[in-house]
Amino acid sequence: MSFALPIFRSTQGPKEPAVEQTSPRSVRISVTDRCDMACVYCRPSMTDGYVPAEDRLDVDAWERLVRALVAQGVRRVRITGGEPLLFRGVVDVVRRIRAIGVEDLALTTNASRLAALAAPLREAGLARINVSLDSLDPARFAEITRGGSLERVLEGVEAARAAGFDEIKINTVVLRGRNDDEIEAITRWAWDRGIVPRFIEVMGVGEGAKLYQSHVVGYREMRALVAHLCADEDAEVERDRGPAKYVRSRDGKHRVGFITGTTDTFCEGCDRLRASSTGVLRACLSKNDGVDVSDAARSGDESSITRGLADAWAMKPDGSWKGCTEATAKAVNMRATGG
Ligand code: 5AD
Repeated sequence: MSFALPIFRSTQGPKEPAVEQTSPRSVRISVTDRCDMACVYCRPSMTDGYVPAEDRLDVDAWERLVRALVAQGVRRVRITGGEPLLFRGVVDVVRRIRAIGVEDLALTTNASRLAALAAPLREAGLARINVSLDSLDPARFAEITRGGSLERVLEGVEAARAAGFDEIKINTVVLRGRNDDEIEAITRWAWDRGIVPRFIEVMGVGEGAKLYQSHVVGYREMRALVAHLCADEDAEVERDRGPAKYVRSRDGKHRVGFITGTTDTFCEGCDRLRASSTGVLRACLSKNDGVDVSDAARSGDESSITRGLADAWAMKPDGSWKGCTEATAKAVNMRATGG
């Protein structure tokens, strides 16, 4: 290997144990484990023999589950997948969660179906949207996503801009030798459109476990590639909005984000819970451990969901745990758990 991999380093100062959070403040709900792309860092191939779950929660069950989680202190919900726009009820899920009332309601998508769904999602009350976009070159895009159409994704982004979301971000997983030469171009492209670009270190989770040692591009290197566009300041996290660190543009009008899941794991203080498409609550992206609350979600048994939540949260690893770099991470199915 020709470069040093600064794994296991944390620059976040004295550690608070993650378990100090007594209950989750945010939840990511994976409404389907199906996806119409097969990104190289997520799954082995488009035809990998994976059989999607049949016992997915329906819209009613999601409403009951989220309602119970909100009663226990969850304030922010992100809808994810798989590809969440492949779930037929996704607009209804947004509408129901909006009616329950949360401080933040967002969705992460590959945008293959966003052109048709951006306006209905916005109308249903979706506040913010994140689009996965790993290259602006059509051939490269198709390679990294194993068949994805850049053109469709760009149409989806335009539809999202027209729909007037509070915020649009793009997520770019940076892979050495495949798209690390596009960091500046993607940043400029996003800023020109009022979009916040975010560059993500590939994590050793699921299929990424095969790639990350050879392909990770760390925060320092990513930031150096856009240093001439950015203010000379320390990157800062956005309060209550997950682990990304942001730097402003020189003129202060734009921001660029970095997610350092590999070189600077951010387990300390993690307030995030995940719910799989089959109703399993998980406290950590890098472990398969979880508590199945699907029956309670379907029947509306709020006290069982509350108990399940407490049991799942008790599985939260302590602050000494190194998240995406732990050995358990490679066994995680990103589609079921939600990226
Ligand atoms: N490393 C980093 N990010 C990943 N994602 C999926 N797999 C990985 C991985 N191995 C993220 C991508 C995508 C989101 C849905 O999940 O950022 O945008």
